[in-house]
Amino acid sequence: MTKQSALKGLGFHVPDKIVSNQDLEKIIDTTDEWITTRTGIKTRHYAEPGIGTSDLALEASLKALKDAGMSPGDLTHIIVPTFTPDSYVPSAGCILQHKLGIPGIPSYDIAAACSGFLYGLENARALVALHPEANVLVAASEVISSRTNFKDRSTCVLFGDGAGAVVVGACDNAASPGRIIDILLTADGALGELLTVKGGGSCTPPLLDTTIGPEYFVQMEGRDVFKHAVRSMATVCKDILAKNSLSTDDIDLVIPHQANIRIIQSLGKKLNVSPDRIFVNVDRYGNTSAASVPIALAEARDQGRITPGSKVLLTSFGGGFTCASTLLQF
Ligand code: UT7
Repeated sequence: MTKQSALKGLGFHVPDKIVSNQDLEKIIDTTDEWITTRTGIKTRHYAEPGIGTSDLALEASLKALKDAGMSPGDLTHIIVPTFTPDSYVPSAGCILQHKLGIPGIPSYDIAAACSGFLYGLENARALVALHPEANVLVAASEVISSRTNFKDRSTCVLFGDGAGAVVVGACDNAASPGRIIDILLTADGALGELLTVKGGGSCTPPLLDTTIGPEYFVQMEGRDVFKHAVRSMATVCKDILAKNSLSTDDIDLVIPHQANIRIIQSLGKKLNVSPDRIFVNVDRYGNTSAASVPIALAEARDQGRITPGSKVLLTSFGGGFTCASTLLQF
């Protein structure tokens, strides 16, 4: 029989440097009032120059391994969901493998933007189904400050850097804590142009000795993305609940992608879930893309919002477009 998967350990890491809305007021035409009311964000963390996605992933991974009671040598696979890898080649996954000191095991990145962590979880549980002895590290990590256009006020206030990691392994029975009940992934490539980082790709290659333009940074049609984010996350949450004969009343905590407090509130209304059952930390970290859900998951657990028996619904939405939901049983 195919093995089921569970989260064996969780961990997250954000860099020390905190950037407030007031700090951004000094470099661009914006206000704390606008950012707070339109997004709910008050602060975000930025990595120092030279710190890469794999460095943040390493810190989060070591915490997840400790939480799992494992050492790096226990891992069998590494997956790094990110849209801001250290480099195109080698992948952040391979760099992280080297930093963990565990040569040999398969290591790779996943490009699914803000939904990358849930895409990574689905990969992990497929690996566990194939290899029941597997311990898969999913370390979602982003240094989005490296792809932020600080001359574009509509995007530069939104993002932050950080990493969240889990170790996924087989579980024996339905009572195992952290069990992955189900995962649903979707994508709609027709809407890809609404949220892009094109510069440096094969269709927009870098040219020697030319200056780079805004296409090298996150570009977004914010209002359109907002609408699709709410609709798509609501749909994929309803679908996974229906598929598993559950309703939102069965869910103890919803952990949505942390992009904007208004998106989270609109999602809560569409799902008919009261704010006390929705986890929010976008105020402190901003949008950390692929890292947002695992950071929130680890923080929610650390704060006692997830206890034995809790059913947790995760959902995310991002560039691609990609969208996903996951049901967990603790
Ligand atoms: O993680 C992937 C998914 N990403 C998201 O989910 C983000 C989705 N989008 C959003 O969160 C929101 O659309 C934004 C926060 C990006 C923008 O909020 P909005 O309420 O949709 O504002 P808007 O883009 O419609 O702009 C309203 C006004 C504009 O001025 P005018 O044209 O009305 O005079 C903007 O120029 O706000 C202005 N504006 C700003 N003002 C001060 C835009 N950015 C800023 C800013 N400070 N930082």
